[in-house]
Amino acid sequence: MPAMMTRDARDAARCIAAGHLAVIPTETVYGLGALANDEHAVSRVFATKGRPIDHPLIAHILDARAAQDWADAIPEYAHPLMDAFWPGPLTLVCARNNRAADFITGGQDTVALRVPGSPVAREVLAIVSEITNDASVAIAAPSANRFGGVSPTTAQHAIEEIGDRLTTDDVVLDAGPCAIGIESTIVDCTADQPRIVRLGKVTAEDVEHATGMQLGGSSQVRAPGMLAAHYSPRASVLLVKEAQLQEQAMPSGAALIAPYGVPTPPGLVRLSEPATTEEYAADLYRAFREADSLQLSTVVVVPPSGAGLADAVRDRITRAAHA
Ligand code: TXA
Ligand code: MG
Repeated sequence: MPAMMTRDARDAARCIAAGHLAVIPTETVYGLGALANDEHAVSRVFATKGRPIDHPLIAHILDARAAQDWADAIPEYAHPLMDAFWPGPLTLVCARNNRAADFITGGQDTVALRVPGSPVAREVLAIVSEITNDASVAIAAPSANRFGGVSPTTAQHAIEEIGDRLTTDDVVLDAGPCAIGIESTIVDCTADQPRIVRLGKVTAEDVEHATGMQLGGSSQVRAPGMLAAHYSPRASVLLVKEAQLQEQAMPSGAALIAPYGVPTPPGLVRLSEPATTEEYAADLYRAFREADSLQLSTVVVVPPSGAGLADAVRDRITRAAHA
């Protein structure tokens, strides 16, 4: 792993400003960041992930004001969303303007924008903005995993995924485990009503409440990273209800992820027993990774119950089970 490891946001910011790549923490998952206007650096992001170039990236910006420099025709209802959830785990897809080049939008006429809530991510953005003397500077950053894999929630996980593809000029910024642990909510703001593209910590109800609007039907924007089979470990994921776990035979030696209080049947290896939905989200990807590092061929998962963040966690488990 030739890239430099650091705990200092300044190292990552200087690296990005100089046109290299930095693995950066956010409150959701770790991202692989590049200066969004630097075509060469952005092309390295795609190559490092093994991601098809028509899959657009999220541009991370400092504040809602900067959004005006990347998006055209931001609808009225997007403003209360920015006010309520930025900085935070919400990405808005808007019509792009010409600052959002084809090489970050995957050639689409929309751009995905997010103001991250993690203080470390914000520090990186603030320093990049200072160095480049650009208040609207953006860091393009997909999750720092190989294409189709599980998003990293620690710096170490990111290194396991892409460390061998970074260079000595690149930097990995370690700020400990991500607080939320699953990717941001994505809302399509290109139609008359907001539509959910990807569930996350900001819930459908949150979006309705903040905008005072009903959500539109399924989004028409193309979000290629939302393929049914995504976010998956190498192990196959078996989604079961608690009752099935107790009543039916489970593959022997399989891993088990289930809420706290659900007993582990004999022969299964318990990898996670989160006591709350928040803990579930924060521990899910770590547990998927542990199943793979233990070379277990199956992970049995009892999903969290309830609405809100639990919907988002079930969405990721379902996609992982689809692979
Ligand atoms: O929490 C997150 O959002 C993390 C952190 C690092 O910010 N980032 C992340 O990026 O999850 P990524 O690239 O792994 O997933 C972004 C998703 C992809 O499914 C992509 O297709 C979709 O956002 N997306 C990006 N730009 C879009 C656009 N203009 N229209 C529709 N979907 C878009
Ligand atoms: Mg991703």
